[in-house]
Amino acid sequence: MLQLSVSGLVPAFVLASPWHLLLLGAASWLLARILAWTYSFCENCSRLRCFPQPPKRNWFLGHLGTDKWKRLCLEGSARLEMFENISLMTLDSLQKCLFGFDSNCQESPSEYIAAILELSSLIVKRSQKLLLFVDFFYYLTADGRRFRKACDLVHNFTDAVIRERRRTLSSQGVDEFMKTKAKSKTLDFIDVLLMAKDEHGKELSDEDIRAEADTFMFGGHDTTASALSWILYNLARHPEYQERCRQEVQELLRDRESEEIEWDDLAQLPFLTMCIKESLRLHPPAPDLLRRCTQDIVLPDGKVIPKGSICIISVFGIHHNPSVWSDPEVYDPFRFDPENPQKRSPLAFIPFSAGPRNCIGQTFAMNEMKVALALTLLRFRVLPDHKEPRRKPEVILRAEGGLWLRVEPLSTGAQ
Ligand code: HEM
Repeated sequence: MLQLSVSGLVPAFVLASPWHLLLLGAASWLLARILAWTYSFCENCSRLRCFPQPPKRNWFLGHLGTDKWKRLCLEGSARLEMFENISLMTLDSLQKCLFGFDSNCQESPSEYIAAILELSSLIVKRSQKLLLFVDFFYYLTADGRRFRKACDLVHNFTDAVIRERRRTLSSQGVDEFMKTKAKSKTLDFIDVLLMAKDEHGKELSDEDIRAEADTFMFGGHDTTASALSWILYNLARHPEYQERCRQEVQELLRDRESEEIEWDDLAQLPFLTMCIKESLRLHPPAPDLLRRCTQDIVLPDGKVIPKGSICIISVFGIHHNPSVWSDPEVYDPFRFDPENPQKRSPLAFIPFSAGPRNCIGQTFAMNEMKVALALTLLRFRVLPDHKEPRRKPEVILRAEGGLWLRVEPLSTGAQ
């Protein structure tokens, strides 16, 4: 396998990948790293109890949409399109974790969530038309005007949350503010950002905070929805693995009074984790990345990719490379068995990218996926649809015509 270091590659902002268009104009790398640091600091202090541990009992269950699925399954099994349903769940849970806001968008339409979805689809549309890369032309089109309107709506929402928090923070003072948050277990991303400081002790401006929050909304919903949809698809096609995951969760929660997944439980789901990773390999949500070479890169055959070149890195290709992965098209979670470590390059598996600009939300995403899958598998059996989906690589990996699965409620699942 081609062994390349990531040190000579930086994100290619000049010729932004469609992926980076999603993060367009958003937060600077530095701010993102400050956030990462502050996040882990706060995680240690307060264990970010608002995710996945709820401030009120089982909020995640509410955000998971399983009640909706149950209603849809009243007549037995229901045929559901995964991306649509799960995107609403990931948006709902992100809005809660970032802003502490219950959108309830899985049950009734939310203007904010509709605007995010509209922006995502407009960005993909725009990225396919070279002429529309020029803002001046784009904003003359109907799509450009829709884009601006949706952007305003999203910005106004974030601005209002920031304004309201700043008011509370200045009237209560930092200590009191933190005490209240710790008591109610509602520390969210906006709070963390409001209190973050750079290495010179400078706070983030409202624009910085807005950019960070919006970036996380965009970077975090589609990717996780794609990942979860394909994991459920792979588990539907492999009922033996699905059953083993379910048993693992049932075992973990045995003799508990409630069915809440606790923070420490997340490390106790090894087989589920293996199934998630194998699905991220077979169906990487971000199928390719763009990078600009900051130095000449010599390939094993002696050919050189000159410094300054923009390269498309096919994550999909890397994950399906037959010289690294035997039978690459086969879904085999045991490839990720920690008991049986493989001598693979760490760069053979890069669903979250690699190097200094890798995914900042990967721990959050892994945790969210574990909780969502654990609670779903406790309540439902997923079965394949009669038609095999065809992969459709866009900014994220979708399925042509959607990814349809049959969902059946489990009679014995605890409610
Ligand atoms: C399974 C879910 C996810 C996958 C597969 C994924 C994948 C990726 C990849 C491949 C990149 C690098 C993009 C590039 O360099 O071109 C990235 C960047 C990023 N992701 Fe994720 N992501 C996921 C979930 C999330 C979540 C939940 C969040 C936020 C809560 C998030 C926030 C971000 C941000 C902010 C960046 C930009 C980081 C930077 O440029 O420094 N991601 N993600």
